[in-house]
Amino acid sequence: MTIAHNGLVADDNETNRAILSGSLKKAGFGTLEAANGEEAVRIAREELPSLVLLDLEMPGLDGFEVCERLKATEETAEIPVIFLTAYSGPQNIEKAFAVGGSDYVTKPFHMGEIKARLSVHLQLRQAKKALEETHAQLLHAQKMESIGQLAAGIAHEINTPTQFVGDNARFLRECFEELLPRLTQATSLAEAVCNGEAPAELAEQLRSGFKDADISYLSEEIPRALEQSIEGIERVAAIVKAMKEFSHPGVKQLARIDLNRAIHSTATVASNEWKYVADMKFDLDSELPHVLCLPGELNQVVLNMIVNAAHAIADIVGDGGEGKGLITVTTHQDGAHTEIRITDSGSGIPPEAQARIFEPFFTTKEVGRGTGQGLSMAHNVIVKMHGGTITFETESGHGTTFIIRLPTTQQGQEAA
Ligand SMILES: Nc1ncnc2c1ncn2[C@@H]1O[C@H](COP(=O)(O)OP(=O)(O)O)[C@@H](O)[C@H]1O
Ligand SMILES: [Mg+2]
Repeated sequence: MTIAHNGLVADDNETNRAILSGSLKKAGFGTLEAANGEEAVRIAREELPSLVLLDLEMPGLDGFEVCERLKATEETAEIPVIFLTAYSGPQNIEKAFAVGGSDYVTKPFHMGEIKARLSVHLQLRQAKKALEETHAQLLHAQKMESIGQLAAGIAHEINTPTQFVGDNARFLRECFEELLPRLTQATSLAEAVCNGEAPAELAEQLRSGFKDADISYLSEEIPRALEQSIEGIERVAAIVKAMKEFSHPGVKQLARIDLNRAIHSTATVASNEWKYVADMKFDLDSELPHVLCLPGELNQVVLNMIVNAAHAIADIVGDGGEGKGLITVTTHQDGAHTEIRITDSGSGIPPEAQARIFEPFFTTKEVGRGTGQGLSMAHNVIVKMHGGTITFETESGHGTTFIIRLPTTQQGQEAA
């Protein structure tokens, strides 16, 4: 991967600018020049150079202030800034790094040194970019993997009602085939009676036909089959609706959502992951105001939490044959925060793992069961994307509670 090389030289001294531009060119850079701090900030914002060589002492905005401004703006924050100065006091050096500088070169310049440092910082930046891309790909992969896993569970969930709706429909068809000739006979009989005839033979045929069809059996079984079918269809519809609510396909936009409903949908979509080992209890605050969030991301977090809870419970109850554990999801409004608590009666987090669970790729599970990305993703979504917190309380052998707190109104993100 290559980054288009453009270096910005900001120095009020024309000779210095010429020398530095010259060495940038030799190193294969395109060059931009600024003669003072204001110009440096403006050009950096317009041109987004690959790096900035920044003189510390300039009239107007000095190098520290320029650097601070670049670091404070999202587009320019990642551009490496290399300070250039005649002063090399330790305080200056400290301050240069404190305001976000990447490096510090003292005058008089040695071209070899500058070239070497330029190349280091460019490599660093490229490596950082590559890392960010890989990280994004991994998160995507984790999401896809969990969707794949969910899909298998959902297929199973839909399969059972689909099968019995099918069985019932076949049963009802048989019933109807059996009843149809009786209906025809009944119609003929009714017509004959209306015409003043009394066809005893027809009446007898009908009576024995109904006897064979076992009307009392059918009048019990037909409504039951219909009831069951409606229930099955409703179950399938609920799963499909939950899937729709869960996935928010591809929309990465803040939206105000009913968190309680989102939690219900996520639990439904994931039910195959937990229902064999745990019961699920909801204690949801009905007064909860809608929360401004990234719905797809937040659902994924809740999903990761539920799957983790189910795993921790399975570690204790095995396949659930000897009794299940319990997952409790609570929502609660607390001042300016909305709180979600996910409590499980599982194994607890071992003390030696507690400090590491939010690290990317930290897992105590065997390959195939865990990738160690669930909690790091959750942390990223809750803390970085929503300005919230995610913490936990745990007791070995008794279980764990994860506590997610989201600001109810997100500063600066409130939809206009
Ligand atoms: N509810 C929980 N109870 C016990 N341990 C947990 C719980 N949630 C997470 N952990 C621990 O944190 C680790 C990291 O979790 P996570 O990032 O979701 O990755 P993974 O589930 O793929 O291992 C898990 O391997 C497990 O050791
Ligand atoms: Mg996990």
